[in-house]
Formats: sequence, structure tokens, C-alpha cells
Amino acid sequence: MLPSLKTAFTLLSLLQLISFRGVTPFPQQILKEVILLIQQLNSSVQVPCNDTRVAQVAFTDQQVTNQDLLCQADMALSKVTRCKEIYEPLITNLKRLHGKKNCFLSDENEIYLRHFLPALGNFTQGMYRRRGLLAAQ
Ligand SMILES: *[C@@H]1O[C@H](CO)[C@@H](O)[C@H](O)[C@H]1NC(C)=O
Ligand SMILES: *[C@@H]1O[C@H](CO)[C@@H](O)[C@H](O)[C@H]1NC(C)=O
Ligand SMILES: *[C@@H]1O[C@H](CO)[C@@H](O)[C@H](O)[C@H]1NC(C)=O
Repeated sequence: MLPSLKTAFTLLSLLQLISFRGVTPFPQQILKEVILLIQQLNSSVQVPCNDTRVAQVAFTDQQVTNQDLLCQADMALSKVTRCKEIYEPLITNLKRLHGKKNCFLSDENEIYLRHFLPALGNFTQGMYRRRGLLAAQ
């Protein structure tokens, strides 16, 4: 009785996982959305809350997965309390893209949002290009 119940639960969570993936748009589309949102924010006269400091994310760190870096970017931006609504769509899309519950981000180093945003933009654009190349192969 018990083992079969366990199997049923495993199957159920597996099905949930599959159906969840089914409704998620192709990540490349979300990535594109993220890039567009960053460009919009970055192209305004002042980056919204330009003077706010956020934890720095080491986007060039090869030891960390892209998913982790995106999760860290999400964490850093989530700390921006002023301009919260403005950054909300970007944060939401970052969450959909990395799909992680949590990640570690040291707040030892902080940078201004006006420097953080272009760095995130550059990173996501690089990701987009690499994935595009992979898809084209
Ligand atoms: C940041 O934005 C404020 C308000 O728009 C502006 O007064 C300030 O000069 C900006 N700082 C920099 C370094 O761009
Ligand atoms: C952000 O804006 C700066 C200044 O306009 C520009 O040089 C940079 O390429 C932009 N970066 C992104 C990721 O949009
Ligand atoms: C932009 O990202 C590439 C990797 O995709 C990196 O080599 C380059 O140093 C980055 N440039 C800036 C200005 O952050």
C-alpha cells in the first residue's frame, strides 16, 4: 500500500513538472523580453533609481551557471525598494528564466543601479547570442 502510494506521488509530481514546463514559453522568448525590458530601462534619461546601490553580480564568473547568475541578478534587483513597480516586470521575467527558488549572493560589493543594469544587459545579450548560435547549428 505505502510503496504504491509513494509511486503515485512521484508520478504526480512528475506530471506537474511536465505540465508546468508545457505552459512555460520557450526560454529564448523570455530572455528576449528581459533584454527588451533592460534596454527600455537603460534608455530613459536616467536609469530609474540610478543612485540606488545593489549587490554586484560577477557576470563573468565561469564557475557559476547562467541560471545562478540570473538568480543573483533577481536577488539584487529585488532589494530595490524605491522604484519597485518599475523593476517588477524585469524581476518577474528573470524569475521565469532562472526557475530557481533561491541562490546565494554576497552583498560585500555594491554598485550603482546605473552600472548594474548595463552589465546585466550585456550578460543577457551575450547569452541570447550564444543560444542563437547553438540553435542554428
Ligand atoms: C540620478 O538621477 C537623479 C534624478 O534624476 C539625478 O539628479 C542624478 O544626477 C542622477 N545621477 C547620476 C550619477 O546620473
Ligand atoms: C545602456 O545605455 C548606455 C548609454 O546610453 C549604452 O552605452 C549601453 O550600450 C546601454 N546598454 C544596454 C544593455 O542597453
Ligand atoms: C559583455 O559580456 C561579454 C561576455 O558575454 C564579456 O566578455 C564582456 O567583458 C562584457 N562587457 C562588459 C562591458 O561588461
